Amino acid sequence: MFVVKYRPKSLKDFVNQKEALAKFINWYNSWRPGEKAALLYGKPGVGKTCLVEAFANDKNLQLIQMNASDTRSRKQIEEIFVNASQSLPIFKKGKIFLVDEVDGIAGREDVGGIQAIVDLIKKTRYPVVLTANDVYDQKLRAIREYCELIELKPLTVWDVEKKLKEICEKEGIEYEKEVLNMIAKRSDGDLRAAINDLETLVSGRKKISLKDLEILGYREREREMFEALKILFKTTSLMGAKMSISNVDLEPDTIFWWIEENIPNEYEKPEEIAEAFERLAKADLFRARIIHRNYWKLLRYFNDLMTAGVSLAKKDVYRKFTKYSFPSKLRYLSTTKDERGEEKEFLLKLSKILNCSTKKIRKEFNPYFQIFQKDSSFLEYIQKLKNQ
Ligand SMILES: Nc1ncnc2c1ncn2[C@@H]1O[C@H](COP(=O)(O)OP(=O)(O)OP(=O)(O)O)[C@@H](O)[C@H]1O
Ligand SMILES: [Mg+2]
Repeated sequence: MFVVKYRPKSLKDFVNQKEALAKFINWYNSWRPGEKAALLYGKPGVGKTCLVEAFANDKNLQLIQMNASDTRSRKQIEEIFVNASQSLPIFKKGKIFLVDEVDGIAGREDVGGIQAIVDLIKKTRYPVVLTANDVYDQKLRAIREYCELIELKPLTVWDVEKKLKEICEKEGIEYEKEVLNMIAKRSDGDLRAAINDLETLVSGRKKISLKDLEILGYREREREMFEALKILFKTTSLMGAKMSISNVDLEPDTIFWWIEENIPNEYEKPEEIAEAFERLAKADLFRARIIHRNYWKLLRYFNDLMTAGVSLAKKDVYRKFTKYSFPSKLRYLSTTKDERGEEKEFLLKLSKILNCSTKKIRKEFNPYFQIFQKDSSFLEYIQKLKNQ
């Protein structure tokens, strides 16, 4: 896999993140036992884990790591690090500990796990690094105060494009420049996603062109949507805003999520963001009425509120380049499609047995199922049902 093959072995191959790197190296150089751990945080695929790996490699440090999402209990955490803490590094100059994806530690049963990490930070003889996507997660409250927070920002389109180019050249792949640019734009600063997209595209090819982007489900329509957003957010004319989406071949419902996602990307003043969401919420109200009462006449209010309403929520045009992003809601829905399908199927089976709607089961029965799950005969019964 390209992501493995081109994983940086040294910080020399590491893309950007200059600010984070400087902070990290500074932290490492001044670290003494008893001091704060480093908590690297940022979106997926921006280099949190591989920064630590490359750094350890460069400095010839033995890297002891665990993934917090798989290792749960206090005992397991202690086993890994306490033992490693007591022995001296073999063939290496020192050690560095990495607790990867601490925010993956789940729920209440892991309180012991979080405490074990805090204890590790307090007592360790070697520097400890943690990584997380969401640093403000409630679960991390206890850990945060023992950490120096270091943010890794999403990579720029330019950074991502450069890396993709480098990979293409090393692999001897011919490319149309625009293709790499599109992949980079779509990746939203997630280099792992971009490299994976590239790999999907080149499989079995020596040359990639714009046309091949279809493989990834890239649609011309999406490009149109990016253009439409640019007009919608930058115009000050009511008509201009209304017309902005006229060329976009997407359902109004889908356009809604594009606008929702990008309001905070464009607007910076809190009152404007609030106003824009307020109007979008009104649009959503119309949408619900259209669906429930079949009042298609209302569609134009839905459209106008989400376009002109949102567009005119700003006082002045933001004269800046805005990186618009693909709606995370739609991405979530598409990645969980299979799971949701299975769930739906299962709920349908239950609805026949319990004689009520799937909606009711989800809302009213589900909480009890969570409790019953501790009961093995209940689980057996459910399993049997699923297999039917
Ligand atoms: N700044 C970077 N420089 C070079 N390669 C990078 C960078 N960021 C990501 N990559 C590439 O993306 C892959 C994933 O990076 P990494 O595992 O460090 O992501 P992460 O930030 O830890 O993500 P997650 O939150 O999902 O754990 C790496 O294998 C590497 O190829
Ligand atoms: Mg990681």
